[in-house]
Amino acid sequence: MTKKKTFKRFLVTSALPYANGPIHIGHLSGAYLPADIYVRYLRLKGKDVKFICGSDEHGVPITIRARQEGISPQELVDRYHFLNKETFERIGISFDIYHRTSDPLHHKTAQDFFLRLYEKGLLIEQETEQYYDPEAQMFLADRYIIGTCPKCGYEKAYGDQCEKCGTALSPDELVNPRSALTGATPIKRKSKHWYFPLDKHEDWLKKWILEEHANDWKPNVIGQCKSWLEQGLKPRAVTRDLDWGVPVPLPEAKGKVLYVWFEAPIGYISATKALAQQEGFDWKLYWQDKETAIIHFIGKDNIVFHCIIFPAMLKAHGDFILPENVPANEFMNLEGDKISTSRNWAIWVHEYLQDFPDEQDLLRYVLTRNMPELKDSEFTWKDFQTKVNTELVGNLGNFIYRTLTLIHRYFEGIVPSEPRNFIYEWIAASKTAVEESIETFRFREALWSVMELAQKGNQLLSEEEPWKTFKENPDQAKQTLTDAIQTVVALNILMQPFMPFTAEKLRKTINLSNLSWNILEQKPLIPQGHKINAPKPLFRKITDEEIERQIKKLKGGMTTQNTTSQKSEQQLAEKPLIEYDDFSKLDLRVAKVISAEKHPNADRLLVLKISLGTEERTIVAGIAQHYSPEELIGKNIVVVANLKPRKLRGIESQGMLLAAHDDGKVILLTTDKEASPGARVL
Ligand code: MF3
Ligand code: ZN
Repeated sequence: MTKKKTFKRFLVTSALPYANGPIHIGHLSGAYLPADIYVRYLRLKGKDVKFICGSDEHGVPITIRARQEGISPQELVDRYHFLNKETFERIGISFDIYHRTSDPLHHKTAQDFFLRLYEKGLLIEQETEQYYDPEAQMFLADRYIIGTCPKCGYEKAYGDQCEKCGTALSPDELVNPRSALTGATPIKRKSKHWYFPLDKHEDWLKKWILEEHANDWKPNVIGQCKSWLEQGLKPRAVTRDLDWGVPVPLPEAKGKVLYVWFEAPIGYISATKALAQQEGFDWKLYWQDKETAIIHFIGKDNIVFHCIIFPAMLKAHGDFILPENVPANEFMNLEGDKISTSRNWAIWVHEYLQDFPDEQDLLRYVLTRNMPELKDSEFTWKDFQTKVNTELVGNLGNFIYRTLTLIHRYFEGIVPSEPRNFIYEWIAASKTAVEESIETFRFREALWSVMELAQKGNQLLSEEEPWKTFKENPDQAKQTLTDAIQTVVALNILMQPFMPFTAEKLRKTINLSNLSWNILEQKPLIPQGHKINAPKPLFRKITDEEIERQIKKLKGGMTTQNTTSQKSEQQLAEKPLIEYDDFSKLDLRVAKVISAEKHPNADRLLVLKISLGTEERTIVAGIAQHYSPEELIGKNIVVVANLKPRKLRGIESQGMLLAAHDDGKVILLTTDKEASPGARVL
């Protein structure tokens, strides 16, 4: 066995989620919950640790969604940055900072990093031909080019991938390529970009990952790295022609930004700097001192960026240490299918919190029990119910509640005696098991060790039956319940990293001043004479109706997440069947356009005045690139009249017009014959 390394401090990161959608249970179980368990554990042991995360706010998909919604990218990322920050807080992910990559501090940090590589002569400049949209007058990212897939003939394949057959493509391979923005045929234009020569790093990366870390990195991580390294590394472009992102800090690079996967990981550094400013410490200690362990928690789709590309960037820069471990998880499926944002097949964490207020730990528990640590795993609502009802209620909650209740009934809530020795052995064994599992990133196993201690406690109670012995042999009952309460205290400490909300409730009931890890070594853990408050059950059973409701909500796609923003993705995906009742919630009306003008603050938006017969409304619509204001006046259109009003770039839109979205074109729905404004559409 190799000797375990010890570190003076820890920097723990979770992948920066894209700020273009809410957080679902797959995210949580992949990169946030395991990191949180790990960090909470380190803190309880009194370690110096900083827990870093934030929003990843750049990249092409964000610009596409913003465009679809007729808002600016900044407005889009603002919405999700704040929603996600709050969601993480509410589910108990205890980041020390939740930063964002649109922050000026990050722009500066990323630009400085780029300049360092540039000045060291480590970047290759190269001019290549790129697709350019002559109508929109801009270069097109691969995602912005649509054409026919050369493999399967699908007519709406993207320039980077065919969604139908899954083939990875380059725009050159598309038959009949078109711009997704205007439908125009793109032309080739020369453009200069900067490349990072990843190939030059192959040798040391191989040694570092496949030899030095062969035993302490997870096998799923090593496996993916190996396959990348064996295929051979190639230079990678670190700049893009795009107007949303961190500008390339060179005078000759107008209109270019750093590639999102170049700058986003630097976001961990920027966030650490921001935290250091708030708390007043030296950020460099956490990134440049060999006695720091940097641990990146991520999902499997991020492995190459965190294990190969980012470490190579850090090495090339020269001032930084390398990550100590990158415990990536696989994916969690949901009810037999892949979690998918675009198909709305997901459990959104902010909605769970609404449906199960104050029951964060139920979700944390079940997600940890099913964490996709080495292979993909599965969440089902039925399994959620079973695990909560049999394991949390039936085992853990039951043991704790019985113990506390009996101590109250027989001994007025006072710890009656001193424990027997075997209790210390139980607790020591559980402590070691949990520690070893957490330190090797086996969180399922760690949690299971906690549950096994509760099982032992339950067995003790059923074997010694203090409710019987209390009458004939009260000393025996004293002994049993003293042993049981020691075990409850141990459980209270051990459960904290996994179920912090429940642990805090229990701590208050037991009346403990704190729950630090070293209490596990104290003899006794809780002294004779200590007074306990009246207990309440920690968990409740989940009913069949609750589960049915959740399944129905999922299958009916009833979540509020499903907005116009996902339109283009949904054109390709089928939606589930709905009831007439669902349809009848929409108040669709014929409306006449009275006036139309350009939105003062947004190029893509028009502001329409419409008549619904009995009233006039303002509607803001993202159609400026498809219709001139003049051609709209007098048209009969169809609107959703009962959509909640929403401000778009400062002007309130009191409804939404209907339009077909066809291959980048937007075509308004009108009536076949003249119809009165206000007429219902059914
Ligand atoms: N936003 C990326 C994703 O969700 C993760 C970025 S991690 C970082 O897949 F290191 F680049 F920040
Ligand atoms: Zn295809």
